[in-house]
Amino acid sequence: MNIKKTATAIVGVVTAAGVATTGKKIMDKTFCPVCSVKKALNKIILSEKYSEPYSNGAALTPPMGWSSWNLFRNKINETLIMEIADAMEKSGLKDAGYTYVNIDDCWQGSQRDADGKLRCDKINFPSGIRSLVNYVNKKGMKLGIYSSNGTLTCEDYPASLRNERIDAETFAEWGIEYFKYDFCHNVAIPEEAPKVISISFAENGSDDVKKYNAIDLKLKGLARIVKDDSVDGGCYVDGLSSRNGSFTVEYECDKGGAYILNVDFRKHGKDEKFLMITVNGEDEYHLYFPGTKGWTPEGKAQTDIILKDGLNFIEFSNPVGSKMDSTAIQYKLMGRELKRATEKFAQENKTEEKPIVYSICEWGLNKPWQWGAQAGNLWRTTPDIKPMWASVLGIYEHNVRLSKYACKGGWNDPDMLEVGNGELTIDENKAHFSLWCMMAAPLILGNDVRKFIKADGTVDTENKIYSILTNKAMIAVNQDSLGVQCKRIKFGFVDILAKPLADNKVALCVFNKGNKKITEVFSISKLSNLSFLNLPAKEKYDVYDIWDDKRIEQVKVIHAECEKHAVKEAGRNLALL
Ligand code: GLA
Repeated sequence: MNIKKTATAIVGVVTAAGVATTGKKIMDKTFCPVCSVKKALNKIILSEKYSEPYSNGAALTPPMGWSSWNLFRNKINETLIMEIADAMEKSGLKDAGYTYVNIDDCWQGSQRDADGKLRCDKINFPSGIRSLVNYVNKKGMKLGIYSSNGTLTCEDYPASLRNERIDAETFAEWGIEYFKYDFCHNVAIPEEAPKVISISFAENGSDDVKKYNAIDLKLKGLARIVKDDSVDGGCYVDGLSSRNGSFTVEYECDKGGAYILNVDFRKHGKDEKFLMITVNGEDEYHLYFPGTKGWTPEGKAQTDIILKDGLNFIEFSNPVGSKMDSTAIQYKLMGRELKRATEKFAQENKTEEKPIVYSICEWGLNKPWQWGAQAGNLWRTTPDIKPMWASVLGIYEHNVRLSKYACKGGWNDPDMLEVGNGELTIDENKAHFSLWCMMAAPLILGNDVRKFIKADGTVDTENKIYSILTNKAMIAVNQDSLGVQCKRIKFGFVDILAKPLADNKVALCVFNKGNKKITEVFSISKLSNLSFLNLPAKEKYDVYDIWDDKRIEQVKVIHAECEKHAVKEAGRNLALL
């Protein structure tokens, strides 16, 4: 067999016996020292390079709403969701900014429908999700829903991994506007790539096939041709695993449109394999190759792809070198499908596009702050919150350090609020809420907001939890249009946090983490030395004490008295209200 050695392509031609035709002895064709070092590094480095922000036009300030999970868990049904929506409207929570009504896990039936679509639990949600969307929309609010980036959700219901397109389209058809994507039952994308014998293209419905054998492919990196007389063409491309190598094909298309891409591969091993196909540097297709025990040496995998008129550049690689790569790629895929689905729905129905806020919930396991802003609108940074002080404090300690990753439309998510749940004291509830506001965190309530409506139908404005959650000045700090997360400017038993706000204002938070009352004396002029705050240097400042609702004009020093686990919040400038 005659194997060409082209200038760009072939790193070495290796026979099945492990001897290169160039004369180089190959010790063991599976051993590659460079690959081993790369593999070790891959575990800690994210290789996937994302340059574009997610930008679906949603969540330009941290999203505000309610979710069923923290309090109601699996005990949910459509009546509860409607009652919650009623209470949010009546109590004024909606007017305070809480507009998303989010159904968390357990809304699903245990099976998909005959068309493969997710379907709801028909006993607890007899009217269906679309009808719930209509109900909530009529009140000027939006419905959110939940699935998992896994084979099942955390409560073991059907989930969306490898069903991204159909599920995103289902949510868009229903009119969903917030989507939380969990991480239970996740299956990582294999780092191993197939051994590729040939690539073929055919226009959908045509038998005119354009085929590229292994030797016709332009190889990059550690990709190499391996001789194997047992397969058609006598060789295959190897060396594509764990982002070690790739190959490209340039395919001239007479007519752009829907094509079938076929990849013939050399069967080996029991594990599934993966290739990412990137068309013209933009469209990404994911192709999985089953671990196989078939009788024949060759297998095939096919996908529909869209090609453009003229020359198409198509790259084949496996960019997964770590769990972090796999996670980022999977979450990014769902983000793209959500955007595609809402756009498609709007076009087909000639309606205005309703973007879906995309909430990534992989608990901070794979440093989502490093890739989340390119994948979605918010990303959980920690494991689940619990309605107890140690949990709130632990989550705060982690999330407060991630300030630099937050941006407009891309927020660190320290999890939903537990304000009003469990045994948090009033000071702790206030502190929890204030910290989340300062950290530009999504404000997703987790309590039973129906309790804010008294038996006579009026709002219980005396309810202390209600007052905390509807504090306008505190919410304004969270929703400020600059969209910057606070930074911790002092660390200790007492932390001091500062958050720049629009119009040269600053929100300041003195947070007593200790178990004794303290008085913190803070000279405001120090803030003008901190460039990220953009506070003009002045001798004196106007201060508004948010929780005490007190205005103090022209002061140099703040004396903040804080009980244990409490905060003192100040926003400069009376205009804050
Ligand atoms: C995970 C998430 C929670 C909640 C549950 C639902 O634990 O982190 O926020 O959605 O799953 O099962």
